[in-house]
Amino acid sequence: MADSVRELAGAFKRFLAAQEEDEFLTTAAPVRAAVSTPAPAAPAPSTTGELPPMAADSTLDISFVHQHEPTAPTETSTMNKADKTRALAELAQTIASCTRCPLGATRLIAVPGEGNVNADVMFVGEGPGFDEDRQGRPFVGRAGQLLDKMILAMGLTREKVFIANIAKCHPMTDPLHPEKHGNDRAPNAQEIACCRKYIEQQIAIVCPKYVVALGGVAAKALISDAKSLGALRGQFHTLHLDSVELPKPVQIIATFHPAALLRNPNWKKDAWIDLQMVMDKLGLKGARK
Ligand code: URA
Repeated sequence: MADSVRELAGAFKRFLAAQEEDEFLTTAAPVRAAVSTPAPAAPAPSTTGELPPMAADSTLDISFVHQHEPTAPTETSTMNKADKTRALAELAQTIASCTRCPLGATRLIAVPGEGNVNADVMFVGEGPGFDEDRQGRPFVGRAGQLLDKMILAMGLTREKVFIANIAKCHPMTDPLHPEKHGNDRAPNAQEIACCRKYIEQQIAIVCPKYVVALGGVAAKALISDAKSLGALRGQFHTLHLDSVELPKPVQIIATFHPAALLRNPNWKKDAWIDLQMVMDKLGLKGARK
């Protein structure tokens, strides 16, 4: 035991001292080896998508760190409709009682997302607002009414697509007064990090052909943190997830958030161009050729 601790400490020192990439590669392996022997008691793999409990003696507060923890993968590659429905329902249950970030203490009802488990298109917004917080359903307020129109204009219906958000609980500017209107804000980086695995699992389970990221928060969370919505929209990107493997490649396109379109109706024509790109791929009528 003492030997393995000494070995770990030595390897960790070498790891910290390594400046060059070559050095990192040669020192990282011993660190991994030392860390993995003796093997720590692993938490039982979760079948519900629940996070493994933290070790009781852990002094690291990881609740706000962007986590790439290797949790029990959801086997998504061979899922039929019933499997998908079950996996999404289990995930929704986990989300309903999630307290990974402070939003869990102030939300009224969590909003996991909903829709067709075999959807070709999945829309992803930033997070629930006032109305969603009360109904537990995504995009049911004013922005949602516009999203419904966008979906219909594409030749689809709400029943044919899947709709979810990056954050599953209502981010409020004044969490002490959830009854206030105009109390919405975008989820912050820590809240997004805590929630990320939920949307990733939903995408992997539904495995749509196309994800439409609505607005900069969703676009940056799912495509690239480093770019603005303006730089990301108008083109397809191959989706890469942090915590789950996709059963097949998924393309993602970013466009304006319906709430932004309500404030800036002159952006609608650009949003329509983005949506037509998806329609074109799916062979839906009305797509620009
Ligand atoms: N805005 C979002 O991003 N998501 C919702 O569900 C509602 C409004």
